[in-house]
Amino acid sequence: MEVVAEIRALRERREAMRGSVGLVPTMGNLHEGHLALVHEARQECANVVATIFVNPTQFAPNEDFASYPRTLAEDLERLEKAGVDVVFAPDTAEMYPRGRERLTTVSVPALADTLCGAARPGHFDGVATVVAKLLHLAAPHRAFFGEKDWQQLAIIQAMVRDLDMATQIVGVPTVRAGDGLALSSRNQYLTPDERELAPLIFRKLCDVRDAVHRGERNFARLAADASQDLATAGFHVDYVAVRDAERLVTPDSRTPSLRILAAARLGRARLIDNIGADVAVPS
Ligand code: PAJ
Repeated sequence: MEVVAEIRALRERREAMRGSVGLVPTMGNLHEGHLALVHEARQECANVVATIFVNPTQFAPNEDFASYPRTLAEDLERLEKAGVDVVFAPDTAEMYPRGRERLTTVSVPALADTLCGAARPGHFDGVATVVAKLLHLAAPHRAFFGEKDWQQLAIIQAMVRDLDMATQIVGVPTVRAGDGLALSSRNQYLTPDERELAPLIFRKLCDVRDAVHRGERNFARLAADASQDLATAGFHVDYVAVRDAERLVTPDSRTPSLRILAAARLGRARLIDNIGADVAVPS
């Protein structure tokens, strides 16, 4: 496995690759969720490139950019074991040599202003822009993203479609702990008591899904009840919502595929999760 920190070196390695190329972008502090993306890339592509970059433009000033866990040595060990060919781990100056003010930016307004975008203004512009840069640098045939960040996945899919990028975006199912909590680098911010409470988010999402599958169609009521239960248990709820899985709008009677999404703060950690639900389409 080769580790490169410079754009020029990444481009050279990329040009030397023969056969298909898979890209796995990450911010490091890798866990089994990230490794599931690498395994999928390894199965589908002849070459696998992973990136590790804690992207400052997707953090608001009050967020955890400075304290975000950075564990490069362990991350590299895991990526090597998982069979990655090239790791791109640039510093901020390499990615943003002209600073971060008034940068050329990719926005996907139709999907980025709602849900997490409402709570984190500008976040998804930062994500879309850095992912656009990484897609140009690595020029992969396929790029792998977790369903755990459903809105991020939808935004990247829309960006690639709208800007005619040549990469196929592949979504990978969420990897969970045994008690249902979605794996996340931010779970380590939880105290032992908070960690015990945290899987309630997933259980509430499952309750909403089960009600939908039983035929309940008052989605706003289901979401409000789940949100209330989380608040009562001690979460600060940003949202619980039932949405059209692709467009992220409020579903109507013709929406074929739903996504139930939640974001809630528990102590220092902001936790997000989501699951799918299907509704029979009337003929
Ligand atoms: P990061 O949070 O490090 O996540 C990198 C990738 O791993 C994302 O596609 C995310 O959805 C996926 N992932 C995280 N936890 C997962 C889990 N439990 N199961 C499955 N996949 C999981 O997301 C980012 O970094 C950044 O926004 C990035 C796309 C790298 C742009 O900076």
